[in-house]
Amino acid sequence: MVNRFQAALSDAADQSQAEIKAALADLSGPVPEAMMYAVKGGKALRGFLVIESARLNGVVDAVPIAAAIECVHAYSLVHDDMPCMDDDQLRRGQPTVHVKWDEATAVLVGDALQALAFELVLSSDLSAAARLDLSHSLSQAAGIQGMVGGQAADIAAETASEPLTLDQIIALQAGKTGALISWSAMAGARMAQVDTDRLQRYGDALGLAFQIWDDVLDVEGDAAAVGKAVGKDAAAGKATFVSYLGLDGAKSRAKELVDDACDALSIYGKEADTLKEAARFVISRTH
Ligand code: IPE
Ligand code: IPE
Ligand code: MG
Ligand code: MG
Ligand code: MG
Repeated sequence: MVNRFQAALSDAADQSQAEIKAALADLSGPVPEAMMYAVKGGKALRGFLVIESARLNGVVDAVPIAAAIECVHAYSLVHDDMPCMDDDQLRRGQPTVHVKWDEATAVLVGDALQALAFELVLSSDLSAAARLDLSHSLSQAAGIQGMVGGQAADIAAETASEPLTLDQIIALQAGKTGALISWSAMAGARMAQVDTDRLQRYGDALGLAFQIWDDVLDVEGDAAAVGKAVGKDAAAGKATFVSYLGLDGAKSRAKELVDDACDALSIYGKEADTLKEAARFVISRTH
């Protein structure tokens, strides 16, 4: 039986993709085609967090904002998979963009998806104040203080002479994965122009737990279920919670983080049940 969270996750994927498809409708050629390919097939967890945090704050139409974060996320994956970064051939069970097309197309797809994300936020029906706040915070979450900064630290760690400390690993992961997840969780509060504190605490804990589980799946996961190559992090010398704490230590840290994420939402009562289910999904998922 599909539970409420699974249904909401699948709706978020369908709605985000439809929004992006409409934005690309008048365009043809390899880049728009590969952009659409890159946004399909994922779990759409970030888009779901946008829609659900919006609902929690009484905002009904959050789909353009969900589509925007799915664009930034898809762009980050297209570039992450390129030969100059993680050099992966498989993503979501399909050939990566640079394999199916070529490297120039993959670079341009990432660039264009990032720009499209800001276009979607700025052309939404939200108030000018909300659009400004969302765009400004998204630029920080996506950029050198956020995702790109974390990705740079991730690549640098592969060839570092000393293993990273736990604090350095936490900072790296909070950037590369945490920043976009936290932004998604806080987006609903930003749309409603209310305080982001509770959703930030939820999103920060969830983001770290999410990346820990990604690292666990790299060790224990089944490539067919995960939809990407596994066993690559240790071989590449990646700095992960698993490399630092071991599998059991990383799993118990992830569980603590999920408990903290759920506690942060206690004031919302039953209204936050779907977000709490999402947190539990993050550390039980097989893909
Ligand atoms: C994978 O993210 C990359 C990380 C940040 C760990 P997801 O596991 O959310 O990827 P999709 O979108 O579902 O494929
Ligand atoms: C990727 O982290 C994070 C971003 C794309 C920002 P990983 O390199 O661990 O993600 P996967 O395992 O390739 O999905
Ligand atoms: Mg990577
Ligand atoms: Mg990777
Ligand atoms: Mg990974």
